[in-house]
Amino acid sequence: MQDVILDFRDVSFRYEADEDETPLPLCVKHVNLQIEKGSFTVILGHNGSGKSTLAKLSNSILVPESGKVFVNGMDTADEDLSYDIRRTVGVVFQNPDNQIVASVVEEDVAFGPENLGVPPEEIRKRVDDALKAVGMYEYRGHAPHKLSGGQKQRVAIAGMIAMLPECLVLDEPTAMLDPQGRREVLDTIRRLNRERGITIVLITHFMEEAVDADRVLVMDDGEILLDGTPQAVFREAQTLRRVGLEIPKVAQLSADLREYGVPLPPDILTAHALSDAIYSLLGERNHADS
Ligand SMILES: Nc1ncnc2c1ncn2[C@@H]1O[C@H](COP(=O)(O)OP(=O)(O)O)[C@@H](O)[C@H]1O
Ligand SMILES: [Mg+2]
Repeated sequence: MQDVILDFRDVSFRYEADEDETPLPLCVKHVNLQIEKGSFTVILGHNGSGKSTLAKLSNSILVPESGKVFVNGMDTADEDLSYDIRRTVGVVFQNPDNQIVASVVEEDVAFGPENLGVPPEEIRKRVDDALKAVGMYEYRGHAPHKLSGGQKQRVAIAGMIAMLPECLVLDEPTAMLDPQGRREVLDTIRRLNRERGITIVLITHFMEEAVDADRVLVMDDGEILLDGTPQAVFREAQTLRRVGLEIPKVAQLSADLREYGVPLPPDILTAHALSDAIYSLLGERNHADS
């Protein structure tokens, strides 16, 4: 078996109902999921499908009602391990404003390692390194509240990176950002995966963010409905539509063109791949004409 960092075994969870109310239904249902070290996984799913709950189960913010979650083999239900677990898996949330705690960028990034008891000279190094990793080093003396959404979210990610996590779980980190901010944050996440080997679990409702993942999971009503490569998952247009998701526009356009008789290869997901395919068709035709 591959080296697994996150291991969900038959995990179910429900939130607690208010006193004297009937129990709430399970919102994560018998989930089995193994995330390989170094991989880039995207989780898609309609609102309320259980994605954020899954994120919180991944580093012991929540613990399963039944089943087990292991982080590098550590049981998240074991409170004695929660420190090591949270150092291994960092969770980044949607709203950067709720994650920023200090009035200067570098102090904010230092907050996590300070809490871990990292010595000051080591903190200095980690903060500088983390800010460089997210492209925010020049802003180290700035006030976070004056930054753009994308910049704030990168500072929040730097705060996690400064704790040297092996895995980042990002819960819709781009949902509140403009296109520019989305691009910055996504580029940052991809770079952390590629260059530092940090395992990424990216929860998003933007289908386009899933096209170059190693693996795509689709959640529906607390269960994993689809699990495969982006190509395999986006072939399931009907299933996706049934759970309120659309395939990426380029994939839809390519599928429509194929239906129309244009001999494109299957599984085109990006504008780049589509333009390559069209140019290669035009090239073949020019050959045939001459
Ligand atoms: N704190 C909570 N208390 C009660 N129910 C909750 C709470 N948080 C989420 N839920 C419910 O659990 C289900 C899954 O929610 P969530 O994990 O946030 O889904 P998603 O992130 O996919 O939108 C939803 O039905 C939601 O209403
Ligand atoms: Mg959510």
